[in-house]
Amino acid sequence: MSQNNTLIIFDTTLRDGEQSPGASMTRDEKIRIARQLEKLGVDVIEAGFAAASPGDFEAIKSIAEVVKHSTVCSLARANEKDVRAAGEAIRPAARGRIHTFIATSPIHMEKKLRMSPDQVVEAAVKAVRLAREYTDDVEFSAEDAVRSEMDFLCRIFEAVIEAGATTINVPDTVGYAVPDQWAERFRTLIARVPNSDRVVWSTHCHNDLGMAVANSLAAVMAGARQVECTINGLGERAGNASLEEVVMAVRTRGDAFGLESGIETTQLVPTSKLVSSITGYPVQPNKAIVGANAFAHESGIHQDGVLKHRETYEIMRAEDVGWNANKLTLGKLSGRNAFRTRLQELGIELDSEEALNATFARFKELADKKREIYDEDLQALVSGVAEEAVETLRLVSLRVCSETGETPHAHLVLNVDGVEHDVDAVGGGPVDAVFKGIESIVKSDSALTLYSVNNITGGTDAQGEVTVRVEKDGRIINGQGADTDIVIASAKAYLNALNRLRQPERRQHPQLGDV
Ligand code: KIV
Ligand code: ZN
Repeated sequence: MSQNNTLIIFDTTLRDGEQSPGASMTRDEKIRIARQLEKLGVDVIEAGFAAASPGDFEAIKSIAEVVKHSTVCSLARANEKDVRAAGEAIRPAARGRIHTFIATSPIHMEKKLRMSPDQVVEAAVKAVRLAREYTDDVEFSAEDAVRSEMDFLCRIFEAVIEAGATTINVPDTVGYAVPDQWAERFRTLIARVPNSDRVVWSTHCHNDLGMAVANSLAAVMAGARQVECTINGLGERAGNASLEEVVMAVRTRGDAFGLESGIETTQLVPTSKLVSSITGYPVQPNKAIVGANAFAHESGIHQDGVLKHRETYEIMRAEDVGWNANKLTLGKLSGRNAFRTRLQELGIELDSEEALNATFARFKELADKKREIYDEDLQALVSGVAEEAVETLRLVSLRVCSETGETPHAHLVLNVDGVEHDVDAVGGGPVDAVFKGIESIVKSDSALTLYSVNNITGGTDAQGEVTVRVEKDGRIINGQGADTDIVIASAKAYLNALNRLRQPERRQHPQLGDV
């Protein structure tokens, strides 16, 4: 099974990606991303970790209900409670997978799990057997495989294959691998583990040394036929292997890999933009494939070459990865039906007529300020309206004054739990004045650790999308806001983060704590 010419793309943006600081998503946001991942053609969507919280369980279940073509997967630690939660969450799926894991390196077994190697093998086998009672599609991962002993990996993989695992995932949990050694690890495992040809071998790499994609591709060269990756390389610490880079490397260098994936590559850029806008993680301009400069030819020599003959400097075409999918969709005169239809085409289902009306009203306001409305504007609009529905802190009005030689000041009115408060504040700049004013009313006592502005589309009338990150008592929360006025966008982003901070955090991290 592991030597055919199809590469399975396993996307874990909604699980490992969501473990990035502050990237947690609501159920509706996850559904929007899952629909887009399906449109992108990913084979497996890891929709979350069902045992983390009731909210995570419900999100996976909803995704299992709406996704029809991709396999929907839930992560589970190797224990009965987690596996049963995963099994129940994926029950509605047309194709469902349980992904169970346990750490196998000496340091993790001794210091984190406090379990002997025998106990670890026993737990893994029990978890896989139980998972098989829910589905025929069971993946087993040996967490921290990169620092695990080869003999022990062979032993546990043999045992879980015997118990019914159909995919064996070998993670570089801490981003420690180098390509040659990682490939060698796969070659050895595939050669030594009995019945290795009955399963799909999978690689899952983190990017701590900047080698997640290189290591993933080295594993593929050595026989792995599933790559676990995320959109924009999102993920804990330095992130996971970037889906778009893996997919385009395999496609562009078909001569070297001889493999095909089912990815509809023209959906790469739209998917990247959606994930960036929902998580508040901007894409760096020089990021391969999906960065704004990835196909920009600055130098005169390059431009001349590209104009004479495109392939002189271009190894891929911008349109093949979806750069031209940035469609001018609607304008000031577009009606409610055109608006609804475009949202449906974008995979956005609003759950009530009120939600549609509220979003349409916001669309009209935006169309008054901005002549051309693009898909990305609509995505940002929908996110904003959905967030407002659960806000306890709301911006009522804002006036800022910024003048050369004068100290910027702001006057703002906020609605806090239904009561209006107003304040005057000064700051180093208009945004600083607004943030100081907000904090003087809300008294969140949180630290602002990130502030960034990006334009959603081109032009000076574009909406600015602001991301802020706040930290309090070890919790890290991102907030976003979009508006054609970046001071207002900043106020919305800060309030969005503070609103989220006011909601209780109830989820467990899968890789911390006991089995
Ligand atoms: O990095 C890792 O080891 C993981 C596992 C849970 C697969 O994310
Ligand atoms: Zn991981």
